[in-house]
Amino acid sequence: MRRLFRPASARITRLLFNWARRDRERFVRQLFFDTIVGFVDDCRIEGDYLEFGCAQGSSLIDMFDSMRPYPRQQTTRFLIFDSFEGLPEPTGHDAGVHRRYEGGQFACDIDQYERNVRAGGVDMQRVKLIPGWYDQSLNESLKRELAIDKASIVLIDCDLYESTVPVLDFITSYIQDGTVLIFDDWFSYKGRLDQGEAKAFGEWLDAHPSIRATEYQKSGRTMISFIMHVDDESTPARSDPPVVTSGGERFRHQS
Ligand SMILES: C[S@@+](CC[C@H](N)C(=O)[O-])C[C@H]1O[C@@H](n2cnc3c(N)ncnc32)[C@H](O)[C@@H]1O
Repeated sequence: MRRLFRPASARITRLLFNWARRDRERFVRQLFFDTIVGFVDDCRIEGDYLEFGCAQGSSLIDMFDSMRPYPRQQTTRFLIFDSFEGLPEPTGHDAGVHRRYEGGQFACDIDQYERNVRAGGVDMQRVKLIPGWYDQSLNESLKRELAIDKASIVLIDCDLYESTVPVLDFITSYIQDGTVLIFDDWFSYKGRLDQGEAKAFGEWLDAHPSIRATEYQKSGRTMISFIMHVDDESTPARSDPPVVTSGGERFRHQS
């Protein structure tokens, strides 16, 4: 009984703490993660949790917390990908686009990150940290090493278009019917879909006609999630727009 009560009370304390110290964005994000984990558990979507962009660790702490009440989620692996040196210098399409983003921002070295998430109650035996710049580290040999079968939830929180492109390329074969894809910075570019993570997502969908997305939850200032669908090879290639809104409307991304 005490074992059941302790995690629940720690969770309520953390939620109240975030609320009390006016960290409303984080409070709202916790509820958003709760909904997504509940969906994945209900629909029996199995696989690893992949996170691209971890900074100081708050997103892993909150996602770990959201999975806590679900017995089926207690074997989920948490694969965390980051430079652990902060953002790269914005170049290419990102150069000069967003005044808030600069090289080195959000840097947290791997030892400090580990201390943070341990202190936040994360069981490090279920976590694998993968340091490196995405355009170099996300390659075939890493795929072999990690032996990922499928992803249940993917959090993309790397702010920049040039960072999101290799991430989406890397996860393509791990998407299954029901995988939830979360973009933390979807609306960060004044809501424009031709910048940042949204631009990369639109281009990736266009390049993969067997993958479709249903818009799911939105949260806070900038977050959105999609439930992904993968047509099997016998289905004719899609000709209609790849994204369906939660209202059933179809739309094509601008890229
Ligand atoms: C906004 S922070 C992540 C915040 C975190 N998810 C949270 O909620 O606490 C963005 C992260 O993306 C990482 N990142 C961005 N582009 C990257 C790239 N090309 N390669 C590796 N890491 C990258 C940065 O190091 C940084 O930690």
